[in-house]
Amino acid sequence: MMEIYQAKDYSDLSRKAANIISAQIIMKRNCVLGLATGSTPLGVYRQLIDWYQKGDLDFSDIRSVNLDEYKGISPEDPNSYSAFMKSNLFDHVNIDQSNTYIPNGLEEDSERECHRYNQIIHHLGGIDLQLLGIGQNGHIGFNEPGASFEKETHCVQLTEDTIQANSRFFSSAEKVPKYAYSTGIKNIMQSRRILLIASGENKSEALYQSLFGPVLPSVPASILQLHNHVTVVADEAALSRIRLEKLI
Ligand code: F6R
Repeated sequence: MMEIYQAKDYSDLSRKAANIISAQIIMKRNCVLGLATGSTPLGVYRQLIDWYQKGDLDFSDIRSVNLDEYKGISPEDPNSYSAFMKSNLFDHVNIDQSNTYIPNGLEEDSERECHRYNQIIHHLGGIDLQLLGIGQNGHIGFNEPGASFEKETHCVQLTEDTIQANSRFFSSAEKVPKYAYSTGIKNIMQSRRILLIASGENKSEALYQSLFGPVLPSVPASILQLHNHVTVVADEAALSRIRLEKLI
């Protein structure tokens, strides 16, 4: 089942997506949330923090697993996804940070780290709700075009496009790490529910191809068409390639 909700703009998108996460937390107070970094979820996290501060949400029993982390970067590095999650969510809500999991960028042994991270996901009993952004090339997590649909957590060599896109957060493109640990499409597909968020015209083609194009490894997010519970929340600009009658 795939539901597509059109939001008026970014703040409407953020509120709608936060509402879905909030409903999940209320229905299962110890649920496992799969979390993403990047620009798109920032408004969602701000909204969740706001509801927490108003006393409407309780994160004390929540467990979380993040999609990815750069390899070769310390969690203290301000560019790490670990630092991102702390400053944009974890430090502002009552989540027990020992229950938040992100791949360890400092582990040099890729095989060991990927195995360890997969074990964590399995021991938690899988992911109840996976939040996903989407790359302009249709990537999810760091699963770039051509990635196998079969993979669990693995070490990825970042493409030149992704290095360029992510260089906006670093002082130069050379400073962007060349490798990352990412959960795989298989981990994502095993999540019980997926919430995909997309904002802006620059995501419209990837979103269209992912939701209505053929299911192909060259468009990693297209596999989501085969998942049994995907909710898409996107703004008008991101949905501009999709005809309205396909929307709820
Ligand atoms: C982030 C992640 C990436 C982003 C994607 C979109 O943890 O896994 O796949 O979701 O690159 O990024 P933004 O939201 O910055 O456009």
